Amino acid sequence: MANESGGRRATDRPGSLDGLLTSREIVVACGPGGVGKTTTAAAAAAMAAARIGGKVLVLTVDPARRLADALGIEGIGNVERRVPDDAFAHAGVRPKGELWAAMLDTKESWDALIRTHAPDERTRDEILANPLYRNISGRFVQSHDYIAMERLFEIHAEGTYDLIVVDTPPTRNALDFLDAPERMADFFSSRLLRWLIVPYRSRLVNFASKPFYQVADRILGTQFLEDIAEFFILFQSMYDGFVERARAVQRLLAERRTSFVVVSTLEAVPLREAEFFAEALTGRKLHLGAIVLNKVLPAYLRDPAAAALSERLTEQADSVAAALAPMVDAAEPQLRRVLAEVGQSFADYRVVAQREAEQQAMLQTAPETLVSVPFFDTDIYDLAGLLRLGARLFGE
Ligand SMILES: Nc1ncnc2c1ncn2[C@@H]1O[C@H](COP(=O)(O)OP(=O)(O)OP(=O)(O)O)[C@@H](O)[C@H]1O
Ligand SMILES: [Mg+2]
Repeated sequence: MANESGGRRATDRPGSLDGLLTSREIVVACGPGGVGKTTTAAAAAAMAAARIGGKVLVLTVDPARRLADALGIEGIGNVERRVPDDAFAHAGVRPKGELWAAMLDTKESWDALIRTHAPDERTRDEILANPLYRNISGRFVQSHDYIAMERLFEIHAEGTYDLIVVDTPPTRNALDFLDAPERMADFFSSRLLRWLIVPYRSRLVNFASKPFYQVADRILGTQFLEDIAEFFILFQSMYDGFVERARAVQRLLAERRTSFVVVSTLEAVPLREAEFFAEALTGRKLHLGAIVLNKVLPAYLRDPAAAALSERLTEQADSVAAALAPMVDAAEPQLRRVLAEVGQSFADYRVVAQREAEQQAMLQTAPETLVSVPFFDTDIYDLAGLLRLGARLFGE
């Protein structure tokens, strides 16, 4: 790896992802849905490229369209693209290293995987042409989770990048993608699979004579059943390759060069899920590098003096409006309503900010690094925005 030549330095400040991004080759951003995983992954990668140097790749899943556009990966599938230095220049930054981005295309990745593991060209072509495969490879049970890990493994093995920051898909269950490689291995050796295949494998058995198959045949049609069986028989020929690969993916995730960053907001439900996730990582002996608390309300909202002030503003809206109206050229009743509303709104935000602080105090997990990122008043969709958010990831 080019870590030494890339001018990467080893600093480790608490409250900053700097040290983690410097010392690891793979950083996986995970956590509950909608909390800012994609944004955090992209911002961390952008900062690593800008400040630390080397070749940095962000592997994203389903980025918002404008973000994909800003990274130059809108609609290009699995291809890795370099984010042009111009984009950094627009943001007023001269990056030390290179930022690359790729989007995860599940279907394309499955096809690539079949090409790798198929024992011969004929099997490969038969699988790729199998109607069932074509239909489900985009929505294979948990395929998104598995393929994300698989693609990561492949890119890492190529050794092109000093750092790969991985975004993860919104999973129903936070553990889905961690277990995906193992589940894939299990699936290939499962009873269900064998049971489905048997009547087709030994063409001696007349499957139409068995009641289950008779019913299935009537409901689904012979062609469909045959497609299924053919698909699984073909798939089984790749069993060894798949299982070996799934195990290798798992080992890579557990190595010291890989670390996980759990992203969450301070809302009660996502935070509990994030904690559960952090525990699960540790339980699996995976490295929990940091927790990023995203969209956090600013501390000044909790300042008691400011709270008292907002109360006074609401209570004394009449007299304040009377004094201010000539200065801002406003009608007094209107100004009074605005002031009262401002005071009330501040008080409401204060309640939420306090709740957030309580949630944070209740946080049981003690990661090596805990980073807070504020709620920005605009959406994060371009490199300037990512770097702005990224600076907070670096504790600035
Ligand atoms: N700190 C922030 N301040 C303001 N907006 C933010 C912040 N972080 C993220 N966002 C915005 O929140 C939205 C959701 O973020 P993002 O897509 O990164 O979440 P996600 O966890 O990847 O979601 P999913 O689970 O659906 O993949 C985006 O529109 C993003 O621009
Ligand atoms: Mg996302």
